[in-house]
Amino acid sequence: MRRQTLLTAANLLPLILSALLCLGTLLPAFADGKKVIPIETDNTQLVLLVEESGSLITVHYGPRVEDPTQFLDYSTHRANEHGCGPVTYPAIGSRYLIGQEALSVIYPDGYRNTELRYLSHEVRNLGERVLTRITLSDELTHLRVDLLYEAYPHEDVILTHSEITNGDRKDVTLMKYASCSMHVEGEQFLLSHFHGSWADEMQLEREVLGHGIVTIESRRGTQATQCNNPSFMVSINSDRLTEEYGEVLAGALCWSANYQITFERDETGRLNIISGINPFNSEYRLSPGKTFLTPDMVWTRSSNGAGGASRNLHAWARRWGVYGGGEVNPTLLNSWEGAYFSFTTPTLLRMIDDAADMGLEMFVLDDGWFGVEYPRNGDAAGLGDWVLNTKKIPEGIDYVASYAHAKGMKFGIWIEPEMVNPDSRLAHEHPDWVIQSPGREIPQSRNQWVLDLSNPQVQDFVYGVFDSVMKLSPHIDYVKWDCNRIMASVGSKYLGKEQNRLFVEYGQGLYSVLARIRRTYPDVLIQCCSSGGGRVDYGALRYCNEIWTSDNTDALCRSYIQYSTSLIYPACVMASHVSAVPNHQSGNVTPLKFRFDMACSGRLGMELQPRNLTAAEKEYAKRAISEYKTYRDLVFKGDLYRLASPYDGDHYALMYVSSDKSRAVVFVYCLKYENRETGGITLPLTGLDPKGRYSVKELGVDRSCWWGDGKTFQGDFLQGGGFNPRVRTQFASAVFYLEAR
Ligand code: DGJ
Repeated sequence: MRRQTLLTAANLLPLILSALLCLGTLLPAFADGKKVIPIETDNTQLVLLVEESGSLITVHYGPRVEDPTQFLDYSTHRANEHGCGPVTYPAIGSRYLIGQEALSVIYPDGYRNTELRYLSHEVRNLGERVLTRITLSDELTHLRVDLLYEAYPHEDVILTHSEITNGDRKDVTLMKYASCSMHVEGEQFLLSHFHGSWADEMQLEREVLGHGIVTIESRRGTQATQCNNPSFMVSINSDRLTEEYGEVLAGALCWSANYQITFERDETGRLNIISGINPFNSEYRLSPGKTFLTPDMVWTRSSNGAGGASRNLHAWARRWGVYGGGEVNPTLLNSWEGAYFSFTTPTLLRMIDDAADMGLEMFVLDDGWFGVEYPRNGDAAGLGDWVLNTKKIPEGIDYVASYAHAKGMKFGIWIEPEMVNPDSRLAHEHPDWVIQSPGREIPQSRNQWVLDLSNPQVQDFVYGVFDSVMKLSPHIDYVKWDCNRIMASVGSKYLGKEQNRLFVEYGQGLYSVLARIRRTYPDVLIQCCSSGGGRVDYGALRYCNEIWTSDNTDALCRSYIQYSTSLIYPACVMASHVSAVPNHQSGNVTPLKFRFDMACSGRLGMELQPRNLTAAEKEYAKRAISEYKTYRDLVFKGDLYRLASPYDGDHYALMYVSSDKSRAVVFVYCLKYENRETGGITLPLTGLDPKGRYSVKELGVDRSCWWGDGKTFQGDFLQGGGFNPRVRTQFASAVFYLEAR
């Protein structure tokens, strides 16, 4: 949101320049001489060097050096005449053919050579951010590329993207138009990234990079992050992902449609990372004078391991990257796993009563409340017809929402506005709005089709769905926005011959709708859900307060999913619900305490039928929810320290510490039986004041699993190995609250 405004203003200059270039009156005059362009944060520095030839190369991204002008005569020892230089925005052309390119263009005469040279740069201080715009230009083709770097000094984060302007008199075709490229020197690189599938998202994968190319990408159109997340960490000169030491580079792309990130160890051993929109079936015709804006890539670099890199990203996300980031969002009961499609008003009121009784703060009515001619009583009908099903809720949504409000709770509702069931009024009225290829079957998935968001009429419709649902009641506080399938038989009636624009314009269309929604509804909480974690990225999070981390609510599976998610995304966005056992996805049976303790390390919610809980379970839920409220500000706003990884041992443990180090909460989970003699775990806590004295209290139990419970210890003792709770049987777990005395 904030950056959108900034970009509009910042775009004026390039537009004027491009108009002049179009007239053909202004040929770029390349500035002579070498130049160092430092982009700095408190602890890191990205240094770009303009060479004598006008080429822009990347000479450093790492710890900050006091005098970056020392890079003026820096030699990369790379033979530029072989095309091996660390070109900052490598375009196909001249000698640059052998590495992965960031930019590839076909000109009107069919030639494909682009040679970018430095033209100018400007630095603008925006208060707590510094924006550097570097303008490159091709003297012959008048193509201009602006590279924008937005430095967030306190968070050690740099955002970068490119803006490509056609300064010629004829159309050009962009074949590849990445956001950026990054070069990293080192002897060894461990890439950590996240693969998965439905109900199994964000599975950590670590691989030492050999020579050649590793690609993470999405070609799914929608649900772009379900199988690979557009984010990663690279441990430099290491084959281990270490938590608190070691050099780590982390990146995350702000884009919710097809993306591609390539990691290439080139012939010189250097790692080159290119990230941006996936060029797959997406060549883009750019008319004279037009500018294409690529999505931002978020970068951070830390000398304090994965933990340091995550804390940088989280701090940035809470302050700048996530809509409403860092604010405490309400605990809730979601109706899905408790009622699915089978409910009427009394079911909902009863759930609201139970939720209020347990101390939850919001009730969310999930799928199934709409559809008249085609009632949504299952997933086969009704999607697209956003009219209340009065057979289920004759009194109206406002009645249910007001009931929740009268109980002191908020109210939320589910929509899936980008999709349509063939069995719906919408599908019959607007068959041309469906993504399809003429003469072909339109494949169904979950009995539904995808609407074509590249079409402005569809954008208006999707906006209208949100708007009309909000108008069902003045008491709607939260909207869960779902998106339950990927594209297939890809085609757009609206785009005609320009089918290649569909993937890109779907993404742009989505953001334009979300931006419009935010202008009208700045205060409504929005959960970004896509069959769980199909849209977990910093592009969507510019508009959404949280993500539905996964449809898998099993606490054991969640330990893997939430650990990995925490590497890149902050806990404030991670919705985590306590559900029934056997778990509906995995079939696992875990204790209620384990389920609560797992959910309490993110945004706590419940997703079950409270009527099915025993009195004792309800009492436990009340206690856990009320205790969560005493420390949840740490989960939402504190610094995360991961203490044990579920991928590397039998325990998962993490802690959140307040920025003044006066309070902390520690979560410990045993995932596998240890043994009766040595069971338990010694966990050196992290992030405390070594000289501070902390009282330690285990929550949620009457008998603690740690001998030190209720006592006061100095930070150095707790950090030095004194904390060794006995959490040793499978699904045993503990939550400790620490407060400085
Ligand atoms: C998929 C979501 O991830 C679930 O939480 C639920 O909202 C269903 N869709 C409803 O159809």
